[in-house]
Amino acid sequence: MNVVVLAAGMGKRMHSDLPKVLHPIAGRPMLARVIDTAKALPDARITVVIGHRGERVRDAFADPSLQWVTQEPQLGTGHAVQQAAAHLADDVPTLVLYADVPLTRIDTLRGLSELAGEGSALAVLTVMMDDPTGYGRIVRSADGKTLKAIVEEKDATAEQRAIREVNTGILVAPTPALKRWLLRLSNHNAQGEYYLTDIVALANADGVPVVATQPSFVWETIGVNSKGQLAELERQAQRNQADELLAAGVTLADPARIDVRGTLECGRDVAIDVGCVFEGRVRIADGVSIAPYVVIRNAHIATGARIEAFTHIDGGADIDNPIEIGSGAIVGPYARLRPGARLGSGVHIGNFVEVKNSVLGSDSKANHLSYLGDTTIGARVNVGAGTITCNYDGADKHRTTIEDDVHIGSDVQLVAPVTVGAGSTVGAGTTVWKDVPPGTLALNQKTQVAHEGWKRPVKKAKPGAG
Ligand code: UD1
Ligand code: CA
Repeated sequence: MNVVVLAAGMGKRMHSDLPKVLHPIAGRPMLARVIDTAKALPDARITVVIGHRGERVRDAFADPSLQWVTQEPQLGTGHAVQQAAAHLADDVPTLVLYADVPLTRIDTLRGLSELAGEGSALAVLTVMMDDPTGYGRIVRSADGKTLKAIVEEKDATAEQRAIREVNTGILVAPTPALKRWLLRLSNHNAQGEYYLTDIVALANADGVPVVATQPSFVWETIGVNSKGQLAELERQAQRNQADELLAAGVTLADPARIDVRGTLECGRDVAIDVGCVFEGRVRIADGVSIAPYVVIRNAHIATGARIEAFTHIDGGADIDNPIEIGSGAIVGPYARLRPGARLGSGVHIGNFVEVKNSVLGSDSKANHLSYLGDTTIGARVNVGAGTITCNYDGADKHRTTIEDDVHIGSDVQLVAPVTVGAGSTVGAGTTVWKDVPPGTLALNQKTQVAHEGWKRPVKKAKPGAG
């Protein structure tokens, strides 16, 4: 079928430089969500009508299958669809969607298009609203069976304003008839606009049946005109995602306190505590537990790993290059993993440890206060508290290599490029600037003196005090 997505509106009430339809819901721009849904329909040929900051909207999409038309100036929803008319094939019906109505379910659109048949009827998606303010009202015949017209609020009589059945804006029309009706629209109304909604009265005049159906949920048809509505729909989208996770068997401490801004795939017996945020693509295997207030972007977490509270796992923007956390690893509390971190199985990363572009072999541990950057660490290595890899010489980054079974004492600096050989030990407080041969003890010669009779300074009492 033909799909026309209306995205030319200003979004003035968003008070934002970002075009309205690019504002994200659950991490994905509203227009992208609407296009995703349209693409799930069989043989959808999608035309997007842009206008206000249209270039910026179009540039956000690389998809070559999309058609773009510009509506300039914006003279109403009917005028907008008219701009797309040349792209609409006559032998299939046309579905009209709004780019600022991001949560419509595919089942609802399928139902609407089935109702419209193969182009014999005009099918309108309507919804009952407790507060219909601002919406076009559905005017039916006295017996309620026929849909006679849609009246915009600004044009409605007091009696019509009391109607609670409203137009969602979403409709499926027979294409040749739609093209005829669009040419007959006038702008003689309260807003001086060409209303798409006037095609309902024109269909009736032409004897084309007008039918209506309702979505399963009111939120499917709610549009975003303000930041308040954006926030409300965000909560709805998050709730929907949380419900899907629960249905799949994920344990959520509180489905109202998890945010997924992308995709989260979970295995069996995954438990997620409150306040966690997932971005990009996160994959979590069986038996993983995530403690409160953990933020994870683009990462794979293997079976049985434990992520402790307040940990930030940031795989960066590249979803094809995620952070990897091995099975049974323990990360946090208060750990920070940055792009390129790859932890083997059984690795422990403790509080205030930062790991960037580094690989840790299985069962290696860095439990306290360290920076591991551009480092390759073998298996069973222990990195003592306060150890720093000095990877940056002010111009270039260099790698540190720590081979299997190394024991690094506390407060060690490893000045890269440097290699610590297998099985060696580095004493506490050592600055390692030369390679350490395997199986040796590396330490800096230092002395410790004891000054006898030394007196610690004593604070003088302030005059008048006491
Ligand atoms: C429209 C409907 C109303 C319905 C409501 C549902 C009309 C006349 N009214 O009203 O019956 O209850 O949606 O949300 O259709 N747009 C363009 N070009 C334009 C004008 C609008 O592309 O010239 C786009 C907007 O970007 C938006 C959509 O069309 O995505 C709806 O426009 P909006 O101005 O929000 O219509 P409403 O007044 O809300
Ligand atoms: Ca609107």
